[in-house]
Amino acid sequence: MSVAEWFSERLPVRGSDLRELTNEPVPNHLRRWWYALGGTPAYLFVVQIVTGILLAFYYQPSAETAYESVRYITEQAHFGWYVRSVHKWGATLMVAAVILHQMRVYFTGAYRKPREINWMVGMCMLVCTLLIGFTGYALVYEQLSYWGATVAANIADTVPIAGPWIKQFLLAGDTYNARTLSRFFVLHAAVMPALMILLIIIHIAIIRLQGVTEFHFEDEKSGEPDHFNFFPDHLMTEIIMGLILMVLLSVLATVLPATMGPVADPLNTPEVIKPEWFLYVTFRWLKLFSITTAVLSMGFIVFTFFLWPFIDAWVRRRWPKSEFSVYVGILGVLAIIGLTVWEGAVAH
Ligand code: HEM
Repeated sequence: MSVAEWFSERLPVRGSDLRELTNEPVPNHLRRWWYALGGTPAYLFVVQIVTGILLAFYYQPSAETAYESVRYITEQAHFGWYVRSVHKWGATLMVAAVILHQMRVYFTGAYRKPREINWMVGMCMLVCTLLIGFTGYALVYEQLSYWGATVAANIADTVPIAGPWIKQFLLAGDTYNARTLSRFFVLHAAVMPALMILLIIIHIAIIRLQGVTEFHFEDEKSGEPDHFNFFPDHLMTEIIMGLILMVLLSVLATVLPATMGPVADPLNTPEVIKPEWFLYVTFRWLKLFSITTAVLSMGFIVFTFFLWPFIDAWVRRRWPKSEFSVYVGILGVLAIIGLTVWEGAVAH
């Protein structure tokens, strides 16, 4: 009996079934990187899981041990500096890739009927990505980790009704205490990634059911097939993109490796408290208004974007020729860039 026969007796799956399952025809425009950007955060998420597991072998989530364990990873463990730096840069690139992918979906109107649900799933993935980034930043137990977590919990406290509960949940008490760090670790390394995996499965399943939006371009020659095979053609494009990203990550990790800031000191508030760059926009917003106004308006903006496909559909029904969504999109992108640069440029 051949090995193939041995397996097929036990796992009755035919090769043709597998080919059918993996060989979705992909429209030609996915040959362009801008249109196939969804694969980039998916790939980076895998990099984060692998490097995160390696880091978790050494990381010890308690106020007494966290900082020293990160120092050990950075200075003594074999290739620890590389793994930590790739994890840190991977987080930055993943946030950037999710935002770029969302921009592509937005500006090409690919969120419109029947893809409203997948847009909302995507919004959950965006929030999930930002929360994974934020909770990871808190784990090093540097001054900024400690005070960043404290400030975030105090901001959460101002949310009407649920605020005090969110704060209690995040800090495992009224203030930062001995149980806080392990809570952040469980959220960062288990709860949020598990949620993310679930969301990615739902996102991809919906894409498989609906197919991606079809676009056609003027430079396409007529008579050419307008689809190509997912396997191996599109997969090969994704693998090449993955290799390029790995080189980029390695260069960034080597040239600008992750460093250690001063250890957390609960009695000494630093003069400047800054979150990671991807939260600059929210931080600047908070400084522009009273805290309750800022939190409520931010919640409103996120909720509006969550429901954007429906708002856009309503506007298009009333004014079919209007370019409303494009103007809102441009305004949104300019506001995000402007607030981020502003927060990055000033000390306070
Ligand atoms: C970890 C985050 C994400 C991953 C891994 C991901 C993955 C993907 C992939 C692989 C595609 C297929 C087309 C392409 O490659 O662009 C896609 C399409 C799509 N994504 Fe995402 N995505 C993520 C986040 C988001 C976000 C934040 C949104 C919006 C809020 C979003 C909304 C959509 C929509 C509506 C489509 C269908 C596009 C079309 O039909 O052309 N995704 N996503």
